[in-house]
Amino acid sequence: MVLHTGRDAACFTDPGTRMLLAGEGLTTPVLEALLGTRLQVRVLRQDLVPVMDVPGEVAALLGLGSDGEALVRRSCLVDPELSPVSLNQVIAATSAADGRLYDDITSLDTPIGYSLIGRRLPQRRKILHVGRSTWWHGGMGRPCAVKSYVMLIDDEPWCYIRECFNPRHVPSAITSAVTSAVTTVPVRTASEWIDAGPVTVCGERDSLCGGERSGAAHFPAETGRVAAHQPPWPDHAQVEANVERLRELPPLVSPDECRTLTTELARTVTGDAFVLHLGDCAETFAGCTPGRIQARQALLTVGAALLGLGTGRPVVALGRIAGQYAKPRSRPTEPDTGASSHASSGASSRAEMRSYFGDMVNGHEPDPDTRTPDPRRLLSAYFHASATLNYLRAHPYPSRGAIEEITAAAAAALRRRGSPPARPSGEFEPGFEPGASTDLIGEIGQLLTAALEVPPRSRCLHSLVPPVYTSHEALILPYEEALTRRTAAGDWWDSSAHLLWLGHRTRDPRQAHVGFAARIRNPIAVKLGPSARPEDVAALCSMLNPDKIPGRLTVITRLGAARVGELLPPLVQGAVGVPVTWVCDPMHGNTRTTREGRKFRRLEDITEEIRAFFRVHRDLGTPAGGIHLEAAGEDVTECTGGWRQLGENGLSDNYQTLCDPRLNPIQTLECLILVLQELRKQAMARKEGGEGGAAPFPP
Ligand code: PEP
Ligand code: CO
Repeated sequence: MVLHTGRDAACFTDPGTRMLLAGEGLTTPVLEALLGTRLQVRVLRQDLVPVMDVPGEVAALLGLGSDGEALVRRSCLVDPELSPVSLNQVIAATSAADGRLYDDITSLDTPIGYSLIGRRLPQRRKILHVGRSTWWHGGMGRPCAVKSYVMLIDDEPWCYIRECFNPRHVPSAITSAVTSAVTTVPVRTASEWIDAGPVTVCGERDSLCGGERSGAAHFPAETGRVAAHQPPWPDHAQVEANVERLRELPPLVSPDECRTLTTELARTVTGDAFVLHLGDCAETFAGCTPGRIQARQALLTVGAALLGLGTGRPVVALGRIAGQYAKPRSRPTEPDTGASSHASSGASSRAEMRSYFGDMVNGHEPDPDTRTPDPRRLLSAYFHASATLNYLRAHPYPSRGAIEEITAAAAAALRRRGSPPARPSGEFEPGFEPGASTDLIGEIGQLLTAALEVPPRSRCLHSLVPPVYTSHEALILPYEEALTRRTAAGDWWDSSAHLLWLGHRTRDPRQAHVGFAARIRNPIAVKLGPSARPEDVAALCSMLNPDKIPGRLTVITRLGAARVGELLPPLVQGAVGVPVTWVCDPMHGNTRTTREGRKFRRLEDITEEIRAFFRVHRDLGTPAGGIHLEAAGEDVTECTGGWRQLGENGLSDNYQTLCDPRLNPIQTLECLILVLQELRKQAMARKEGGEGGAAPFPP
């Protein structure tokens, strides 16, 4: 029955570590006493794994037969600064995880030992092994103390547990006499557990009609209403020919996936989950490469993990990805900069050329020919969206390298920054110091690796890393209508993305875009700028969510840092009685232009709008449900400020956007740490207000 004789805990020089490793009782209270702080459990992953994939020694120990499945759970204990204190792996027979004890072993908020005490079950731990392993932080390995044991209930082996302790909290030094003799337990590497699984579960129940010529009804196009911001296509017959082809092509997403997203968004209405919505302002066809898709996916993953670890609540990860190819513009034309030979053809005053409307419509190069809308781009947009989505489905998780690139760079920037940044861009609340955030960001790579090590052939029960859903602005109506398909039940779903949003410029309830959104079943978002009135919100709610389905309607406000306090409360009042997810877009109300005419945004304005948005919702008692950021996977220089203190003169270093300025990954994480602080305040306010929901993170 003994797995290893292991080492004597006496090898460790620190008395606390010795006590922790030698003790046969509960680990969590000992750790809490040693560290003088409360700890919370965060579950990184929970899977059902075929028994044949469980290490043989553990299977024998637990008496697992050769068939069937075992429960594999990976979790960590975090302190109030979110620093991980231990990283644990539990393996249990599914019979142990069945029935009466299922909730205890799979609990997302209570350590297993505590659950069992609550049930007054006699538990005993038999230590199998004590030694050292490796703790990874920012790509660097350090020795850490490790202990494995079997937990017995009524003297029957119930589960196997392996606990690694962060050397920052639990000293791992050993007496020099035994240094060479103490076992170093190899860490299971990511390559041993191969990534698997689709982006989201794709059901068969509601397959979409359409795609075949015969008998498939087309979605009836909007006729009576004006469609604003449609491109000046030079040739409508060509548009129709491309739309005809789009109607035949397969749907990109399924109604089941969209319905699952609605269900997940429903929890954001009550503040029990949070939406992280981010990506490019304008995706480009050229950006459809594995590296660039993965960089954006990694940013979403790290951001979602940060918020998920911080709040202990689910995060809905929504990309502006796989279809964000069309842009409404304030001006239909812009001065021809003369960069092309056409521009100088005789005109005395500077000629105008079409604005760039996104890769779905025209090219960005400042050349009147390239800027002429080209209907063939509708098909190109479909294929680039489909290639992007295919990459995300085939590689649902970013690589460890892509994650480390983001976390290591952010931790380094924060470390260099040193002392707390000046208000207002990087204000940290007492008890959440930048030093701790540095460690948090550095360590998130390690936690994510554990969360992403997917045992082959496993069935995922829970993951800290949410699936990536796709979204874009539903602007070019012929494209969206051609991809709108009907189920056998007669419902229409836009298969171009999971969620579609209507921009601030196309949200007029009397116009065609709102009419279109009202007729499809996908979750819908609407953007509201400073000109929106409470009556508009009420009209949008009654048109877009007449059945009051939680998760169906998201409202994204982009009011500008200076005006949120004044403008947001009446808009929230306008939606009273209808379930809405309130999301803050701190980008589009805060765009500025340099003297040279380059668009940029200041992190100070962005963080100020985030703070004001949360403040208003706290005052009103409505939950802030999400954050919407224009963010790049690469280290661009399009917004000023932040930990690296980018100034206006640094904007030209790596300014790439074809439309609005985006945050780089470090600036994105800076904003998300602020969001996390605000979410904690929100949780405290809810607790003080005696509202239900999950317990907030302790102050
Ligand atoms: C956008 O999200 O890129 C955009 C154009 O937003 P808005 O409609 O809020 O201006
Ligand atoms: Co934009």
